Amino acid sequence: MKHKITTFVLLFIASNVFSQQKTIDEKVEELLKKMTIEEKVGQLNQYTNDANPTGPLVINPNKQEEIKKGLLGSMLNVMGADRTRKYQELAMQSRLKIPLLFGLDVIHGYKTTFPIPLAEAASWDLEAIEKSARIAAIEASATGIHWTFAPMVDISRDPRWGRVMEGAGEDTYLGSKIAFARVKGFQGDKLGELNSVMACAKHFAAYGAAVGGRDYNSVDMSDRMLWETYLPPFKAAVDAGAATFMNSFNDLNGIPATGNKYLQRDILKGKWNFKGFVVSDWGSIGEMIPHGFAKDSKDAAYKAITAGSDMDMESNAYRNNLAQLVKENKISIDIVDDAVRRILRKKFELGLFDNPFRYSDVERQKAQMNNPEHTKIAREVAAKSIVLLKNEKGILPLSKDLKTIAFIGPMVKPKRANHGFWAIDVKEIDSSYIVSQWEGLVNKIGKKSKLLYAKGCGINNDDKSGFKEAIDIANQSDVVIVSIGERHDMSGEAKSRSTINIPGVQEELVKELQKTGKPIVVLINAGRPLVFNWLADNMPTIVYTWWLGSEAGNAIADVLFGDYNPSGKLPMTFPRSEGQIPLYYNHFNTGRPSMNDNDIIYKSTYIDSPNSPKFPFGYGLSYTSFQYADLKLSKSAISKNEQIVVTMNLTNTGKYDGAEVVQLYIKDKLGSVVRPVKELKDFQKVFLKAGETKNITFTIDNSKLSFYNDKLVFDSEAGEFELMIGTSSEDIRLNANFELVD
Ligand code: BGC
Repeated sequence: MKHKITTFVLLFIASNVFSQQKTIDEKVEELLKKMTIEEKVGQLNQYTNDANPTGPLVINPNKQEEIKKGLLGSMLNVMGADRTRKYQELAMQSRLKIPLLFGLDVIHGYKTTFPIPLAEAASWDLEAIEKSARIAAIEASATGIHWTFAPMVDISRDPRWGRVMEGAGEDTYLGSKIAFARVKGFQGDKLGELNSVMACAKHFAAYGAAVGGRDYNSVDMSDRMLWETYLPPFKAAVDAGAATFMNSFNDLNGIPATGNKYLQRDILKGKWNFKGFVVSDWGSIGEMIPHGFAKDSKDAAYKAITAGSDMDMESNAYRNNLAQLVKENKISIDIVDDAVRRILRKKFELGLFDNPFRYSDVERQKAQMNNPEHTKIAREVAAKSIVLLKNEKGILPLSKDLKTIAFIGPMVKPKRANHGFWAIDVKEIDSSYIVSQWEGLVNKIGKKSKLLYAKGCGINNDDKSGFKEAIDIANQSDVVIVSIGERHDMSGEAKSRSTINIPGVQEELVKELQKTGKPIVVLINAGRPLVFNWLADNMPTIVYTWWLGSEAGNAIADVLFGDYNPSGKLPMTFPRSEGQIPLYYNHFNTGRPSMNDNDIIYKSTYIDSPNSPKFPFGYGLSYTSFQYADLKLSKSAISKNEQIVVTMNLTNTGKYDGAEVVQLYIKDKLGSVVRPVKELKDFQKVFLKAGETKNITFTIDNSKLSFYNDKLVFDSEAGEFELMIGTSSEDIRLNANFELVD
């Protein structure tokens, strides 16, 4: 009896406590009821601090006063725990004490910088990619940042577009996997953990297809292309729990994405049931005026909020017009409330109402900014991102017993050269920790070999006066390493190029060095695929090092001397010329396909260039070799609810331990709409010791065979399929046919 009474009392207490614990939604509703329309509109407004503008600044002398009055919801570009704290203190002076959200473009690391996202995609290593985002979140959150404007998940088939450096390349399957991994990395176990930041999938949508590869340009695309190629990485971000989305500058089929109801309301918040909020891109609400889509700022505010843009970054359109639009009954308060609710919900989830200063922690900032574990991982990820394009004479890996090494080129010494665009402004932080390529070489071999340096030339000018010194030191050396490429600000936002060559006289420098007859290793540093036909045809050894971040120097040295065996594979096709762009591996066959580079008469080809790329998607060499064998399919025919288990053996047949990215492609031979010549549908990165064999298993199910059919329904169609497994999209080593039956 006594036992029963105790249980009853406990249950009573528990249910009482439970009923007093309000859910986040209840707290949001309670707060919403107390807010004036001006305070509500304030939550939808975001200003930048004065650093890092990527567009026109809003002239607003009363920023601080507005915060104190509770008329601002969020700020971007506030750097450092002390500064985020200061702004938050102002917000705490407001009537309702609603905390500010601090956002920042933490694109490839905060202090510890990782390879640019395109380079990281070349690792095809989802665990490493998630880890780098995790570390970026740990460092950023300690400075009071709650929110990163990443990952950028725009598919792009156009290397002229400078922003390809920020994404995962051209492929939808790889891009979706990476989008998922990055969101998980940034957000950690759950929002509200002190070391998590909100992710922001951007730029919704189709920004990567800007006409001519010119930034901010229009996009015109079929619904099928949109759904099949450009939207899946965004869906993957939703599936991973992305807290926010950013819309984009471009118009899509004539409707600016910021004012695009189909994208934001019908697809994102409707079909995908996205519960987070959407921030505009910088000034993109106001930019609907020059687009010719909005008459003035008021009209722009009306169109953006109606279409589902919740927060206004730097346009002032909501601040100046929304309250008026509600008062005039042009928009319903419900629309405003829905946007405010979405934002408040995230502030509650982040725990900011319990303690608005919880992330701004000077001590934690100090500890995390100097965390040696972060440096170690940055070095590993950087090494994994390097792609070995050529190694014909086996010049690499270099012996550690070389007497004299010449390290030549404009990329060798500057630390900034490795960071690339979208690194957090290193001026703000002491940059001595960044390992230049020179320092990396010195760290690796400085005590054993004599190292000689010459700059040779600049990155983007015609000055050849440094050639002589470079040739002189090359003549004195056993091997020459030349580091050339694009300057850190030649790829990125607003950095489209119509010619994607290696700028200046850098290629000429290599031509002169070639005349010395010394073995030459060329390192190409870039934020996009470049065109470098002479080098590709004449240099035996080429390493694509992208922009690798703060550990670039050490990682490059690890690869050059064989302490890391390169395993990167290109996430974008490298064209022979700009005229081939857009060039991508998963194209349609056409009615007049050319069968090889000589088959050009009345075929779908050029009269002055082969169709084939210089280096294909998925390509990348290793110091070892791999053999693909023993392909087996558990069935040769399946119905929609069955699976095929595919197995094969992979053997490391060379002298070095190493990792291989085994790529599985599928071709649907006949459809109600035409299908690509092949599509990546799975991959595995497998590490094998020299001589080792591993059995690899893939599973094919209906989802891998489905596509948007002639009715725009995602489904499969019965018929024959070809399965291809290879080491790149062009180097297919095993294949088999199977059938899908009704
Ligand atoms: C870019 C966004 C970025 C924003 C804030 C814009 O110009 O397009 O990707 O997040 O600026 O810096």
